[in-house]
Amino acid sequence: MAQLIDGKRISAEIKDEVKARVSAMKAEGKSVCLAVILVGEDPASKVYVGNKKKACEYTGIESLSYELPAETTEEELLGLIHKLNADDKVNGILVQFPLPIHIDAKKVINAISPLKDVDGFHPVNTGAMLNGDAGFLPCTPAGIIELLKRSDVDIEGKECVVIGRSNIVGKPMSVLLLRENGTVTITHSRTKDLKEVCKRADILVAAIGRPKFINSEYIKEGAVVIDVGIHRMENGKLCGDVDFDDVEPHVSAISPVPGGVGPMTIAMLMKNCADSAEM
Ligand code: GUN
Repeated sequence: MAQLIDGKRISAEIKDEVKARVSAMKAEGKSVCLAVILVGEDPASKVYVGNKKKACEYTGIESLSYELPAETTEEELLGLIHKLNADDKVNGILVQFPLPIHIDAKKVINAISPLKDVDGFHPVNTGAMLNGDAGFLPCTPAGIIELLKRSDVDIEGKECVVIGRSNIVGKPMSVLLLRENGTVTITHSRTKDLKEVCKRADILVAAIGRPKFINSEYIKEGAVVIDVGIHRMENGKLCGDVDFDDVEPHVSAISPVPGGVGPMTIAMLMKNCADSAEM
């Protein structure tokens, strides 16, 4: 039986650590506050934002909620961000993506103060990450590193293969694995012989965005598999980018969907908020 990489348990651990830090700050008269901005009516985004607000409640972080109509202009959104940048009470600003197509996401990311960029998407923070300097790390890849470390998976010297090159997951994931001294390969839609490359992996991170795409033909016996995907199947159940039932008998450890990477993203967001307030 493969070890189950338990994101539910580990994310609860991290949220409890944050809760204790927030409580200690409160005892010194310091509060922690996250501003959450949602533009439009995307149902999945609403669920994610709701979960982020719940995690704030649990950890004692105050959340300010801005639910703006889909017609909100870029100028209005940038105006709100500037206001929140200037508000000393606000430690973190989170704009939920995707944004409506008439708003330039890059402009929005660049407008958030790097000191309040708890998503870790601002170029100052991505640059710091690349250079190995202090800064906010993007929550999903940072959460995956925590999952591996707290599941006693050694990264140093391992063949790590990341499938996907998005700015939110694939690219930063590869940088963080490199920082942990992994030997890293990034694959993407133009990669030749994806199966052969994946079969080299001691640690395989799947962020493809296609349900159950990775089956046992992509897996080296005994590998560790991290599944970043989340998809709703026709029967209403959730699945990942990995065909869990087919892959599990061949691996030493695997993260499930749900209960793997998903809850880690939110736990790391809470950690970034606490870090911001302590800075
Ligand atoms: N949309 C999908 N993932 C994320 C994330 O990590 N942060 C934000 N702000 N939006 C997202």
